[in-house]
Amino acid sequence: MISLPLTLSLLALLFTYLIISHTSCYLRLAHIPGPPAAKITTLWLAYHQSTGSLARHLSCLSKRYGPLYRIAPDWVITSDPAAIRQVWSARGPWYRGEWYDMFRFDQPVRTILSERDNYRHAALKAKLLPGYSGKDVDNLHEVVDRRVGDFVRLIEREYLCDAEKGVYRPMDLAEKSQFMTQDVISELAIGQCFECLNNDRDTYGQMTEVTGSLPLIVTLAIIPWTLGLLQNPVVRALLPQEKLEGVMRQQELAKTQAAERYGEKKVVKRDMLGSFVKHGLEHTNAWLETFGQIGAGSDTTATAIRMTMFYLMSSPGSYQRLRDEIDTAIREGSVSDPITEKEAKRLPYLQAVMKEGMRLCPPVMGVLPRICDTEQIVCGFRIPPGTNVCWDAISIFRNKETFGADADVFRPERWLMVEDVEKRKNMEFVQGLVFGTSGRFECLGKAIALLELNKVFVEVSTPCGAKKSFVLADSTLSSS
Ligand code: HEM
Repeated sequence: MISLPLTLSLLALLFTYLIISHTSCYLRLAHIPGPPAAKITTLWLAYHQSTGSLARHLSCLSKRYGPLYRIAPDWVITSDPAAIRQVWSARGPWYRGEWYDMFRFDQPVRTILSERDNYRHAALKAKLLPGYSGKDVDNLHEVVDRRVGDFVRLIEREYLCDAEKGVYRPMDLAEKSQFMTQDVISELAIGQCFECLNNDRDTYGQMTEVTGSLPLIVTLAIIPWTLGLLQNPVVRALLPQEKLEGVMRQQELAKTQAAERYGEKKVVKRDMLGSFVKHGLEHTNAWLETFGQIGAGSDTTATAIRMTMFYLMSSPGSYQRLRDEIDTAIREGSVSDPITEKEAKRLPYLQAVMKEGMRLCPPVMGVLPRICDTEQIVCGFRIPPGTNVCWDAISIFRNKETFGADADVFRPERWLMVEDVEKRKNMEFVQGLVFGTSGRFECLGKAIALLELNKVFVEVSTPCGAKKSFVLADSTLSSS
C-alpha cells in the first residue's frame, strides 16, 4: 500500500507539472489575441465544434479579434486570404496537423485525406491524379449524365407540383441532391451505383450513419488523443457496440472491387480504380482510397448543389437571369440534351452562379489546420513551431476588400462586371480556395464536382427532356 506522504508528494508533483505545462502552453501564444477561455483550454474549441456552428461562430469572432486570433492553447485561426495563400502554398514548409488523424481512424494505412507527411502525400497523389482527372477513365461523363438524368426523373416522377390543382408534394432537396452525388461517386469509385435516386432512399443507410457520427468525430479530432483512445481495443469493448452497417457494406464493396484488380487473374478496366492500379497503388491503399472517395465526394458536391439552389430560390432576379440564359441557349440550339461540360462553360451566368454559390456557402468549412516545425510570421504575428494554423472559411469568402462591400450577398453579377484584371484575378484566386486550389492539398475531385455542377443546374431547369420550362419556386423544387 502506498503511504500517505508518498501519495501527497505524487499529487503535488502532478499538480506542479500541470501548472508548469499549462502556463508554458499559455505563454507560447500569449502575444496573440483571442477569447480568454480558448487561451487556457482546447475544450472551448471542442465545445463550439460540437454545437455544429463553429464556422459561423469563428467568423463572428474574427470581427472582434482581427485577421489572426487564438482558438485553443496551441491553435490560431486566420481570416486573411493572403495568410492562407502563405500557409497552404504548394512548396512551403507547412504540413497537416493531427486533426487529420480523424480521417484515418482505425484504418491499416493512411489515405490521401489522412496522410500528414508532405513527401508521402505527394507520392500518393501522383498515383491518384490521372484517375481523378479522368485521363484514364472512359465513362466519367456518361456516369454523370446518367445520374443527373435519374435526379430529374425522380423529381418528375414523385415531386412535381401542380399549383392550379392544389397538388403540392414537398421534396427534401438537401437529401435528394446527396442521393445524386452518392450515385455518381459510388458508380465511379466502386463501379456499383448505390441507386439511391431510383430507390428514393439512402439505399444502404450509409449517408445517415456518416451524417450521424461525423459531429462526434470532428469534435474528437480537436483533441487527437481521444481518437487514439477510441482505437484502443479495451476501450472499444467497453463502449456501446453500435454497428455502422451501411459504412461496413460500402467497405466490403470497395474491398471486393479492389480484390478483382490484383493477383494473377486480375481484371483490367479503364475506370478510376483501374487507373490507380495502373499507376502503382498498393492493394490495401486501393480499396481504402476507393472507400474514402465516397466520403470526400458526396456531401461536398451535394452542399454546393443544395445551397446554390437555395440562393437561387431566394433571389428571383438571379434565378430569372439564369433561366433566360438557359432558355436562350436551348432556343438557339447551342446546348445538347443532356448538356455537355464544354457547352455549360460557355454560359457565363451559369458559371457566375456556381462560383457565387460556393463562395457564399463553401462546402468544406472544417478548420483544416496546418503546422510547421520552424517559427513563422503569419499576419505579422510570431507563430512558434507546432502551432495549428486554421482557416476561417466564411470570413475569407466574404472578405469585403476582395469581393466588395456587398460580399455577404448572393450576387452572381459580381463575376461578370469586374473590369480591373488584377482585381478579377484576386477574386478568382480567393474563390478557388473552396477547392484548396493552388495548394499542395488541392481537391482531387474538383474536376468531377465541377462536371456535376455544370450539368445539374441546366438539366433540372429543363425537365421532361427539354424544353419545358419549369417554375423553380412553386413546382419542381418545392422545398429544400
Ligand atoms: C464542390 C465539391 C467539393 C469541394 C468544395 C471540395 C473541397 C475540397 C478541399 C477544400 C480539399 C482540401 C482539404 C484539405 O486541404 O485538407 C479537398 C480535398 C480532397 N477532395 Fe474535395 N471537394 C469537393 C468534391 C470532391 C469530390 C467529388 C471528390 C471525389 C471524387 C473529392 C475528393 C477529394 C480528395 C481525395 C481530397 C484530398 C486531396 C489531397 O489531400 O491532396 N472532393 N476537397
